[in-house]
Amino acid sequence: MSRLTAIQQQVRREFLQQVQDGRLDKPVAEASGLPNLAYTCPDFFALEQQTVFRNNWVFAGFMHQFGKAGDMQPVEVAGQPVVLVLAEDHSIRAFHNVCRHRGAQLVTEPRNSKKFICPNHAWSYSLSGQLIARPHFHGGEQHDVNALDCHRADLVEVRCVTWHDWIFVNLGGEADDFADCIAAITRQLDGYDLNALVFSESMEFDINANWKLPIENFIEPYHVFSCHPWLNDFVGMDERKAPSFDEKVLLCGYEFQQADPARGGALPWFPNLPVEKQNRGDWFVLFPNFAFEIFPDQVDVFIAWPQGALKCRETIALYFIGDAATAEKYRAAREHVVNNWHDLNREDIGIIERMQNGRCSEGFDGGVLSPYWDPVQQHFAKLVTESIDAPVI
Ligand code: FES
Ligand SMILES: [Fe+2]
Repeated sequence: MSRLTAIQQQVRREFLQQVQDGRLDKPVAEASGLPNLAYTCPDFFALEQQTVFRNNWVFAGFMHQFGKAGDMQPVEVAGQPVVLVLAEDHSIRAFHNVCRHRGAQLVTEPRNSKKFICPNHAWSYSLSGQLIARPHFHGGEQHDVNALDCHRADLVEVRCVTWHDWIFVNLGGEADDFADCIAAITRQLDGYDLNALVFSESMEFDINANWKLPIENFIEPYHVFSCHPWLNDFVGMDERKAPSFDEKVLLCGYEFQQADPARGGALPWFPNLPVEKQNRGDWFVLFPNFAFEIFPDQVDVFIAWPQGALKCRETIALYFIGDAATAEKYRAAREHVVNNWHDLNREDIGIIERMQNGRCSEGFDGGVLSPYWDPVQQHFAKLVTESIDAPVI
């Protein structure tokens, strides 16, 4: 159950009033992105945590970090402690990471255990969240191991799904079925055998910008000619199309003439890749903050973790096909890809932080959009607004 504070309700009213100027509904040539408030105000950030990050499916973790039943990992979603655990049946389950007695956080670091044991008064819970025992609950040496009595204090489960290596949770519990939410992505992935993917490595970047700026930047190729020299050589602007969108999914892609060592040119491809995918790259955002790119030889996952109104942390996880992810003979080829992603990201982060600085200017409040490239930006602004405006569950 979530309630907005008076300040959050006030900032919501102010935000909704600011977007009443038609910026979200006008033709793109007259439209605008979200107001500065959405990128700078700590109260708006708290409101967004209570809405955007509760009423959607939000990325929470990687399956490859769970090997044995009882592997557990604390994560933070919408500012709340959540614990992911690999249950006995090898499914991932998510619980509010808080003891039902006096509220101690149960798990503070990744570990393996047969059960959850609260360090405070040693109440214990099974991997499926059932309270098992309460030592000395009825007085010294008077333990409570009565299952019927215990069940009222089971851990509170959080809705959770896994899709390949990626774990998502929906704190509010009312998001549409995950499969429906990603249908626009899965249609585009026809022909790729994602089961062939193996995790290789990940990189992290601290960015002095609101989480929405890297996501907005990620989806649009308009900045390629001026920010990314290599990428512009790989696929020029005249061969690029504007991003599209389908409900909570943003999509973009291209065809390349010739593979590059950084994209499909040096590492093995997906098995039995159809001809029409052999010179393609596609990238997607699943609203709010999960994104990935797919090429014949790799998948690259991006998460912009919100860390406050003015900062976020980006994780990029790289996957290759089969033993290309780990084998020594592919090391140099992998390093080439990794270095390329570092370069591209450095080029982006400088621009993203400039856009954050721009959000402190009274000379800007959402901008003037390109009718060709930026319909996706208006759509993203609508998605944020709809989530902010939705009833709080
Ligand atoms: S707070 Fe967890 S057992 Fe008391
Ligand atoms: Fe970029």
